[in-house]
Amino acid sequence: MKIRSPIVSVLGHVDHGKTTLLDYIRGSTIADKEAGGITQHIGATEIPNDTIEEICGNFISRLTIKDLIPGLFFIDTPGHAAFTSLRKRGGALADLAVLIVDINDGFKPQTFEALNILKMYRTPFIVVANKIDMLFGWETHEGASFKESFEQQAQSVKQDLDTKVYEIVGTLHKEGFQSERFDRVSDFASQISIIPISARSGEGIIEVLAMLLGLAQEYLTEQLEINEDAPAKGTVLEIKEEVGLGLTIDSIIYDGVLRTNDEIALMTSSNEVLTTKIRSILRPLPLEEMRDSKKKFRKFDEVVAAAGIKIAAPNLDDVVSGSPLRVLSDNENVEEEILKEIEDITISTEDEGILVKADTLGSLEAIVKLLRELEIPIREADIGDVNRRDIINSSIALNENDAHGAIIAFNVNVNPNSQEDLDNSDVKLFKGDVIYQIIEDYEAWIDEMEQ
Ligand code: GTP
Ligand code: MG
Ligand code: NA
Repeated sequence: MKIRSPIVSVLGHVDHGKTTLLDYIRGSTIADKEAGGITQHIGATEIPNDTIEEICGNFISRLTIKDLIPGLFFIDTPGHAAFTSLRKRGGALADLAVLIVDINDGFKPQTFEALNILKMYRTPFIVVANKIDMLFGWETHEGASFKESFEQQAQSVKQDLDTKVYEIVGTLHKEGFQSERFDRVSDFASQISIIPISARSGEGIIEVLAMLLGLAQEYLTEQLEINEDAPAKGTVLEIKEEVGLGLTIDSIIYDGVLRTNDEIALMTSSNEVLTTKIRSILRPLPLEEMRDSKKKFRKFDEVVAAAGIKIAAPNLDDVVSGSPLRVLSDNENVEEEILKEIEDITISTEDEGILVKADTLGSLEAIVKLLRELEIPIREADIGDVNRRDIINSSIALNENDAHGAIIAFNVNVNPNSQEDLDNSDVKLFKGDVIYQIIEDYEAWIDEMEQ
């Protein structure tokens, strides 16, 4: 038996600092590079214990946990309203969660939504009250523990912080949770810890890491025991086209071992079980964000849970994101198990409407959800570049209804061979890498047409 790293999902409202927190821990600057400043894919990063010890120093060597749990496996989720399904996926996967709240903003719609997801899956969590460096008069102490920095603040600043922490305590109380500032918690089983931090200066991050390791050791070790020889179990996060590899699946393996040439079972968008054989397993280096596709992946013949990996295999076209992943073995009815696990996440479309193309199923789901809320009918929703068939079909739709001659293309290009077809048609392309912006442009176009 081996103990794997707990999967820790970071959830919260848009711009409350999820990616920045993980950037601090990884020593990276992913948040600065995101299109539109928002996270639009689910991410995953392994943080080994060495790194945690480096950040925490003496703080953690006092604890007895460091040899037991190999590290923390973080999942970054988008906070933008459209990405409920990705937040759910992050919540469903998590052994533990960090609910992040901007201390100056308090609870916002997606904070409540995230809390509901955690309730639904009964995921234990801590609350992080972020951006304490923005409190009026706060004196920053880079990388310090919360306790150390707090002691050095002026009385008025301390009071301001506590007033804001108690607002969070009050909100959580209304939602059915008892909570306290972490250093005043008397019973970790019944009270939620609130840790004030600054993801930018690193203050308080020591306590976040120590708390997560402590909770994992105290309450999760049984759940984290894995059998290193058992056939792997995992979840598909995203389906992505990669140059030179074709369609690949980004997955989290949370139990067992996965090997090249293993036969795996996955779920299709029409809720059927599909089997395929693994051609290669690619794994980002520790501390690298899996969704950062500019980073190098390394090939492995086998991986043991917990691991975030990219899998290349034939016949992945119909796999649905969120699908369970199982290695076929003789003594289990894998098909039944998968069918039991899957929730219905297929994208249904209307007879008439616009065409939506996106780079991954996760982002496709997000756009479709936004368009539905705006009551914009969708004729087809698919992943991949805009191709000739898309343009022909959109031209036909255009003849029926001007408003339906539009293609929404998120994070994808027009196939070079099809650019001329597009130029010669009256089809209107809305292309970009910020979902909100594309939809706003589309709405402006409709308004103009109606005038
Ligand atoms: P989404 O993924 O889009 O939901 O946002 P997020 O929660 O990942 O937030 P992100 O990390 O992108 O941060 C949003 C903005 O807040 C960025 O400009 C960050 O630099 C800033 N920010 C995050 N944490 C802090 C903090 O502790 N202090 C200050 N001053 N700014 C912060
Ligand atoms: Mg983010
Ligand atoms: Na953001």
